[in-house]
Amino acid sequence: MCGIIGIVSNKSVSTNIINSLKKLEYRGYDSAGLATISDGKINEKKCPGRVEKLEKILFQTPSRGNLGIGHVRWATHGVPNEVNAHPHSSEIVSVVHNGIIENSDELKKELEKSGKTFKSQTDTEVITVLLTEKLKKLEPLKAVFETLETLKGSFALGIIFKEFEDFIIGARRGSPLAVGYSNSENYLGSDSYALKSMTNKISYLDDGDVCVLSKDDVKFYNSNKDKINKEIFTLSEDKSSVSKGNYKSFMIKEIFEQPNTTKTCLKEYIDKIREEINFYNLPVDPKKINKVVLIGCGTAYHSCLVAKYWLEELTTLNVEADIASEFRYRKVKFDINNLYIFVSQSGETADTYAALDLCKKENAKTCSVVNVVESSIARHSDCVLPIHAGPEIGVASTKAFLGQMLVLYLLSLKISEIRNDIEHKEYKKKIGELKKIPKLIAESLKEEEKIQLIAKDIYKSKGSMFLGRGSSFPIALEGALKLKELSYLHAEGYPAGEMKHGPLALIEDGLPVVVIAPKDKYFEKTLSNMQEVIARGGKVLLLTNSSSKVISENIRFQINLPDADLTLTPFLFTIPLQLLSYHVAMFKKCDIDKPRNLAKSVTVE
Ligand code: F6R
Repeated sequence: MCGIIGIVSNKSVSTNIINSLKKLEYRGYDSAGLATISDGKINEKKCPGRVEKLEKILFQTPSRGNLGIGHVRWATHGVPNEVNAHPHSSEIVSVVHNGIIENSDELKKELEKSGKTFKSQTDTEVITVLLTEKLKKLEPLKAVFETLETLKGSFALGIIFKEFEDFIIGARRGSPLAVGYSNSENYLGSDSYALKSMTNKISYLDDGDVCVLSKDDVKFYNSNKDKINKEIFTLSEDKSSVSKGNYKSFMIKEIFEQPNTTKTCLKEYIDKIREEINFYNLPVDPKKINKVVLIGCGTAYHSCLVAKYWLEELTTLNVEADIASEFRYRKVKFDINNLYIFVSQSGETADTYAALDLCKKENAKTCSVVNVVESSIARHSDCVLPIHAGPEIGVASTKAFLGQMLVLYLLSLKISEIRNDIEHKEYKKKIGELKKIPKLIAESLKEEEKIQLIAKDIYKSKGSMFLGRGSSFPIALEGALKLKELSYLHAEGYPAGEMKHGPLALIEDGLPVVVIAPKDKYFEKTLSNMQEVIARGGKVLLLTNSSSKVISENIRFQINLPDADLTLTPFLFTIPLQLLSYHVAMFKKCDIDKPRNLAKSVTVE
């Protein structure tokens, strides 16, 4: 998704803009650009493709200037090419934009009627044209406020003006925007992560806010144009480094980090001395909760689904899991005694944020499970439960999924204990079992070589299926999502019991079918479903526990995972699925960390 950078300094800024744009690459993009001002001129450079290409252009023809804006674009209006790339500049003003201007067509038609022309197919260019007109009569801040009044939709903007070489204006409605502070230098950025290498002092714009950044000062205004003060946050240091180390990709590094990330997360939440789970500041007394509603997108939604099974199993609560993009538009009945939990790795996903915003407007009690604690979703929820996984760079979510499940499991257990839904002895026993997770994950990772051979056997297939029952059903969904997003191999996740109601028709000779069958209460039934698949020619990969002792010569492959407390199954059975999707994608020579068409941080609907 698009990302914005702005720097105003007492020295040349283009190199730092490029470095910051590289930090925004994780969001996914298809073109890049930058504009600086020097000698009373706007210097605009942009290109389709990677930031490295823009860097080469700058190397050949440097852009001077102590103030500038940069952008990585993820195409929404208009194909990814040089003209549509940001910034969009006129003779006197240059604009970078993240978000969507919903009334851009109407505005464009009106402007065209009055003789204005457009170079690009983007929605953003209307902002440049509107500002250019208004700047004929108004000073920059007033021109920006007037322009914002005509815009519908969501945006974060960075704007520079040819006549004013000493300030940048930023504006936020919907899309996130942060300001960073340093000595004789201030910054604008789509997220704090992009600014982290330059500063750890950050403020966040709220909806409707506008800021004016000069090198020694930052002024903030709210939507009523009143001057306001902003809190300055000091960012936490990242302990884990953002480099691939000896690994071939971030994704495989992040898969192998999971014993450590889960260990850190457990340390954060389990009091070693008292053997107790610590959760402070839950916005509602667990004894008074009426219903828990879990909301997320993609992989995060799958962790919500797993948590639904846990909460139903461990507590007497009603539980719902919902996809954020659906929840936000349904006629949901809110209840002040419900707890709404938002799950998001990035904490910036537009649909999840909008669902949270809806809950806030209804005065509902909200809690977020995020990896990025400085994110919009974290800052706007009543209570934040970080997953402590460290930066996740690979577009496909792996360690964040395990982190989300871990925090949701800890929360389920704690709620169950406070409500007296679980016996104290059982509660303590489960905490003891939880502490084994990092070691069990490390053991499961040892299956990699075997999984690589399986990947070699199936990577040329046209499709695949993933089956499971109970909490293994969302794990099947997650396995299928991971395979399709990384290797572009069609994959369907299904509850094993649903096969006979339609999907069984898809089974044909040699179709790879992954059957997730831990030794739980569904075990026998899942094996029967597996036999139905085998009888129709399906090539089965069975994932089960070591103690299951399944022997069937018709099972093509079998992975035995360590025996563990049954509630921990989702953690262990996810590991071979992550490795399978990684190795299939490797055999297919796919871009592991940046799968086609996808973005790490999905900040548009
Ligand atoms: C899949 C994946 C996505 C994200 C989804 C939500 O591997 O990464 O499905 O899970 O886009 O993102 P977050 O968790 O940042 O809200």
